Amino acid sequence: MKYIYFDNAATSWPKPTCMIEAMVDFNNNIGANPGRSAHRLSIEAARILFNTRELMASLIGAKDPDTIIFTRNATKGLNILIHGLLKPGDHVITTSMEHNSVMRPLRSKEKEGIEITVIKSSSEGELDPKDVLKAIKKNTTLIITTHASNVVGTIMPIDEIAKIARERDIIYCIDGAQTVGSVNIQVKEQLIDILVFTGHKSLYGPQGTGGIYLKKGLEKRIKPLEQGGTGSRSEYEEHPDFMPDRFESGTPNTIGIAGLGASIDYIKTLGVENIRKKEMHLTKLFLDAVTSIKGVKVYGVNDVNKKIPVVSFNIKGMMPSDISYILDREFNIMSRPGLHCAPSAHRTIGSFPEGTVRFGFGMFNTEEEIKIAAEAIEKIALGQKKKQ
Ligand code: ALA
Repeated sequence: MKYIYFDNAATSWPKPTCMIEAMVDFNNNIGANPGRSAHRLSIEAARILFNTRELMASLIGAKDPDTIIFTRNATKGLNILIHGLLKPGDHVITTSMEHNSVMRPLRSKEKEGIEITVIKSSSEGELDPKDVLKAIKKNTTLIITTHASNVVGTIMPIDEIAKIARERDIIYCIDGAQTVGSVNIQVKEQLIDILVFTGHKSLYGPQGTGGIYLKKGLEKRIKPLEQGGTGSRSEYEEHPDFMPDRFESGTPNTIGIAGLGASIDYIKTLGVENIRKKEMHLTKLFLDAVTSIKGVKVYGVNDVNKKIPVVSFNIKGMMPSDISYILDREFNIMSRPGLHCAPSAHRTIGSFPEGTVRFGFGMFNTEEEIKIAAEAIEKIALGQKKKQ
């Protein structure tokens, strides 16, 4: 059975063959623990970690590979940052479009005396940078925003926010879970202090991989969540304070990072701009086909230059979960219904509590699949209209 996979915003699939091959190669020919033992296989495992760090740094325009920390996912990266940086009395600015991986750690910090300002985006998910400026207080230490909404795909004005933050010496952290790999992002040029990424979405790596880019020097302000074995400075019982060991302890997901390295290499070869162009083209085709269907409501901005390939929609009179179920069972189309772990975003766009049906297109999707999906939505909407 051929699936039409439109759930790339949850995790991308299929993955490039080279990524699977790199994991199989690690398993069959290397297998060892990196940075621990001195034998050749352990050194080779450490080399894989270093190569992936280098590839990641170069993809996002970071000079030093040691500014990249590996974590198991973006959620873990955001928790390291939020819990490690914020102290009682600090003020944080964020947006109403955030995923729970930002909102939940922030809400837990609120109980510890950290002040949070949530700036409301427009009903299309757009954020006015002037509102960020207005929200700044004397004790603002951190601005944290998603790069693009995982619900409607709207891209945030990160360049403007970064300038506002840099001029005032406020740390700016971007949640790049939905963008790194498919939208060009250059941390140095764009004045980004912290970029959290995941491996398994637009980087096409395996699940269980991700990380943080930390501008050099910032590591000193972030208390690590964990301590343990690093294979370095083993004579000390205190955890090393240098990067990246400061935030990496215990045996890493080396097989996953081997796969991630191969997929980043693949993306660099294809070119992020080329991937973006293809995904924008597919998104435009879809939007053009569905926005005129009677009974279908599409959320977010219509201009594909302002969004990533994530589209949320509903069909009048139907629950998103029912639409998603029909798309799966009758049309082999995989989507994600509901709140997408971002209740505040759904409140902002007016789709709370039912949520929406979300399509997340990826670089392996085709025009043909978009056409089939648009026809399927038309059929479902028509069937619904006949019932009414
Ligand atoms: N954060 C992922 C999503 O948006 C899982 O679906």
